[in-house]
Amino acid sequence: MKFWVITDTTLPRINEDMVILPAFEHDFDGNRAKTESVGHFDSLASGALLKHASVRGFAGKNGQTMIHFLTSSILAAQKALLMGVGKSTEVTLQSLQTAVKEAFKQIGTDKAEQVTFDLKPLLALGLDPFAIGKMISITGHLILYTGLNYKTRNAPKNKFSKLRVLADAANAGAILQGLSEGDAIGRSVNFARDLTTMPANVLTPVALKNFAQLTEKESAGSIKGKYYDKKKLAKMKANAILAVNQGSSKAPWMSELTYTPEGGPTKDHLFIVGKSVCFDTGGLDLKPAAGMRFMKRDMAGGATALAILKAVAALKLPLSVTVILPAVENMPDGNAFRPGDYIETMSGLTVEVDNTDAEGRLTLADAITWAKKQGATHMVDFATLTGAVKSIGGDVAAGLFGNNASFTQLVAETARGQDEQVEVMTMYPELKDLNASDVADLSNSGGDLAGSTTAAWFIREFAGEETPWVHLDIASVAYRNRAIKLDPRGSTGYGVRTGIALVQAMAKMQK
Ligand code: BES
Ligand code: MN
Ligand code: ZN
Repeated sequence: MKFWVITDTTLPRINEDMVILPAFEHDFDGNRAKTESVGHFDSLASGALLKHASVRGFAGKNGQTMIHFLTSSILAAQKALLMGVGKSTEVTLQSLQTAVKEAFKQIGTDKAEQVTFDLKPLLALGLDPFAIGKMISITGHLILYTGLNYKTRNAPKNKFSKLRVLADAANAGAILQGLSEGDAIGRSVNFARDLTTMPANVLTPVALKNFAQLTEKESAGSIKGKYYDKKKLAKMKANAILAVNQGSSKAPWMSELTYTPEGGPTKDHLFIVGKSVCFDTGGLDLKPAAGMRFMKRDMAGGATALAILKAVAALKLPLSVTVILPAVENMPDGNAFRPGDYIETMSGLTVEVDNTDAEGRLTLADAITWAKKQGATHMVDFATLTGAVKSIGGDVAAGLFGNNASFTQLVAETARGQDEQVEVMTMYPELKDLNASDVADLSNSGGDLAGSTTAAWFIREFAGEETPWVHLDIASVAYRNRAIKLDPRGSTGYGVRTGIALVQAMAKMQK
């Protein structure tokens, strides 16, 4: 998306196909003064704009939209999109997002290419110009996303490419900054959505590693990558990662990408680990067909982690951040790991395999051990870890678990601030005992009771109690079979906005 800000005080000649005019309820109640732009366009159209609105029942309510075709020769723009924003006294950034979301949906259905957005009436209300700009470009990217697909016929596509914003000179700089920050964030969310949607014959472990390398290259030196093949993984005793991949004909790859800010490494160093199981058949404990159907998306956590780093580098955020992606494939085969096998993990703790379908926690165990060895001061993992998390927050909230109250609170508040919902779960110590094994330190499954929490306890055994760690079980929200909020049906890129905002918050706290 290209965008720029125009600060003409007179309404410029608009060559775009569509002009978006914020419209308040008072523009339609018949007696009070109209908002300048609505009034202006109405008089250009000799009163037809408001007449049309009245016929259509458009009253400027928040979230209402109406398209009016412009016939005036003065304007090159073909359509005005009235964007209802409600009562002028009640507009907030949040309410405005609903309106902007509906406007972008219209831009999508109308296949508009170039759009001018008159922000002046909204800025006049005293709303933060940076925040408005950021919200507009994030909302645009997220709503207009048409999804990765391999259709050769009738592929859904949006033409939208350019956004011009009308604003006063005093606000122009802040709006532009907001638009460009939102652009980096929106692109990253869509990048995570694309990766998550990629089928497992395309996005193999080595392909995910290649995307990590591409992200390193694009960073112009701020990201340095290390890539571990099977041999290196064996040397570093990543036996749990290797066990999961044993049944696959494909090679495992672990990527470790470190972003260092321009001013050098920071005291706090956040490690983000993303579950990167490129396909999860369940292994010898094979999943039934319905349960396996969407397991190409079992690397959504890795996609989220990589997308966060991409934005962190683009925004040049002042915090050291490392992303770890232990990419594997969980397949049944003559070489596959078996129920009852024992694994000596990188940490030295031994694990009995109770169920080969509880593979995610095994890969995370070694990846988190590695993160600690590499000097993590804080750790967050994103993982499509358990089906059970759906009984906690439905398809709305992720399950959030942690070993440190204040870090848990920071991540939870950050997520909620990004409109990414989380359910903070109590890790009752008695539940930890469900991971006991007769023959090893731990079993990789705690059974049916509190399945998401026992999975979290398993990871916590490796995270330990010293380094603040948060686990986000995103099996419920990484993809959905319905569209909600800014997310389409399918892959959502959940967690990308939270991760970026967390890096920003941690960077601020360190100063
Ligand atoms: N990848 C699955 C979890 C999952 C389920 C993600 C549904 C998305 C949608 C995970 O590896 C898994 O299979 N978990 C098991 C754990 C059990 C065997 C202890 C589960 O949730 O059933
Ligand atoms: Mn599984
Ligand atoms: Zn899995």
